[in-house]
Amino acid sequence: MNQTTFIKHLPKVELHLHIEGTLEPEMMFQLAQRNNIALPYSTPEQVKQAYQFENLQSFLDIYYQGANVLVHEQDFYDLTWAYLRRCAQDNVIHTEIFFDPQTHTERGVAFDTVIHGIHRALQDGREQLGISSQIILCFLRHLDEESAFATLEQALEHKDKIIGVGLDSSELGHPPQKFARVFARALEEGFLTVAHAGEEGPVSNIYDSLELLKVSRVDHGVRCVDDPALVEQLAKSQMSLTVCPLSNIKLKVFASMQEHNIVELLRRGVCVTINSDDPAYFGGYMSDNFNAVAEHLSVTEQELAQFTRNAINASFVSDSDKSRLHSQLQSFVAGDNGFV
Ligand code: HPA
Ligand code: ZN
Repeated sequence: MNQTTFIKHLPKVELHLHIEGTLEPEMMFQLAQRNNIALPYSTPEQVKQAYQFENLQSFLDIYYQGANVLVHEQDFYDLTWAYLRRCAQDNVIHTEIFFDPQTHTERGVAFDTVIHGIHRALQDGREQLGISSQIILCFLRHLDEESAFATLEQALEHKDKIIGVGLDSSELGHPPQKFARVFARALEEGFLTVAHAGEEGPVSNIYDSLELLKVSRVDHGVRCVDDPALVEQLAKSQMSLTVCPLSNIKLKVFASMQEHNIVELLRRGVCVTINSDDPAYFGGYMSDNFNAVAEHLSVTEQELAQFTRNAINASFVSDSDKSRLHSQLQSFVAGDNGFV
């Protein structure tokens, strides 16, 4: 079996996925028409041509604009359902998705509209596609602490649906300290915490996410290589990094995939995982990310399987659910599926 076939069938677990980042240009047009919203493009092809980014901010500007077409609960359902169908094609067996409520509430779309649409699709995904899932609320770090607190307040009545809180958007200029009090409150309320750190920002953002925000995972975190002591600490504590290879190339975090450090980090014992971040914008879903790593960095099939093993260990599910996911991976690796 070649590596592409191995990757296609390898059970996968996604831990870093912004649901708004799964909005494909075709769906953007459909929803714009359905909701009578004008787009600054005339065709989905024009949208795709606009996806040339210089850095994180140049992506975020286009990404927030795209999210304007999401208005009704059914829009959030359709968006999430389309993503789950892609998961099924890629053999993603568990996914933990981010949503950015402030992107929607700031435009007058109710928090409840957003969460209900996403949650209903995830329930259908569980029942009809056998894909388990969790939801993580992300605060937009370019907005202020007060807005984050107000968002957390709205999340309290949805604790049954939201496992944790995270931090995304513009990393430079918006360090973890800005949200230390919001995260302390979220932890008191029983939410787990994660944060984007060390994507474009310095190593200090990784340290501060660990110490001040008490994160259970670091999103991206690839800049940790700037500090060998931190790499050692991450490996020793088995703190997971949710790495997004295609995203990192599109946003010029690395000049090319050959220069990406994910395999180096894996070999240094860090609990790195492969994820798609914003697949509609960055050129691919889970299998595409695995394939990009396999094509440009030489990895063994054992190492490819280790990315899933790491993701299972780092996932926000019960020990019994982790065992179920591990046995699905194990039966594939052991060749029970006839692939190895
Ligand atoms: N970084 C920060 N914010 C984001 C990202 C990202 O990669 N994707 C969506 N929001
Ligand atoms: Zn992200």
